[in-house]
Amino acid sequence: MKIIQTENYQLMSKLASQHVINTIKQINKPVIGLATGSTPEGLYQHLIKAYHNHEISFANVSTFNLDEYVGLHKENTNSYHYYMQKFLFNHVDIPSKNIHLPNGMANDLNNECTSYENQIQQAGGIHIQILGIGRNGHIGFNEPGTSFESQTHVIDLDESTRKANARFFDSFDNVPKQAITMGIKSIMRSTEILLLVSGSEKADALEKLLNGEVNEDFPASILQTHQNVKIIADKAALRNI
Ligand code: GLP
Repeated sequence: MKIIQTENYQLMSKLASQHVINTIKQINKPVIGLATGSTPEGLYQHLIKAYHNHEISFANVSTFNLDEYVGLHKENTNSYHYYMQKFLFNHVDIPSKNIHLPNGMANDLNNECTSYENQIQQAGGIHIQILGIGRNGHIGFNEPGTSFESQTHVIDLDESTRKANARFFDSFDNVPKQAITMGIKSIMRSTEILLLVSGSEKADALEKLLNGEVNEDFPASILQTHQNVKIIADKAALRNI
């Protein structure tokens, strides 16, 4: 794993965007795995800026998001569909047919998971997966205890994850109890993984990811075994290292 330390969140986001821009420029039909949460918002702002400055186009880019809440409509402001439109897709030239997120409103959720996994394979797999990390070590929504062999699946969210994400909702009770997430194996199949970590509240998780045992109780630890992981983290997140 290659670790790059930046002074702060803004510089982390800028560096990450340069890396994603290079990937988009180098590959004919890039397939990018996207993450949500607060961490990648700055990265998306930089990508939008690069698009407006005519540095890149998203016309040939396909995207697959890591996860989506079960039971939220696309128009719900807390859905990850809505998040992606708001923070990236509405502002760039990506064709809507190239955008993929799991459908958390599907009647048959298991079927939706299988079909999502198949779509990733049919697109030829993900060239670069952007990742954040939860304080309990979750990646995507793969909570502690998720099998390293898992593919896209429905997950019951940990109470701690629901609490951490409650800041986006009117109340804790409104935070969905389930999500569809790419599995650990789906994430590990990406050619490259770009993990972004910011802030002192993530310092313990990052320390455990770097120095802890590879163990399903701490999902992000699997990244130690991937051939091509880049971690861009700010000083605060790296304070235990
Ligand atoms: C959510 C997302 C994850 C994300 C995590 C951390 O649970 N499903 O993909 O990495 O939150 O979010 P934040 O970046 O807001 O700390």
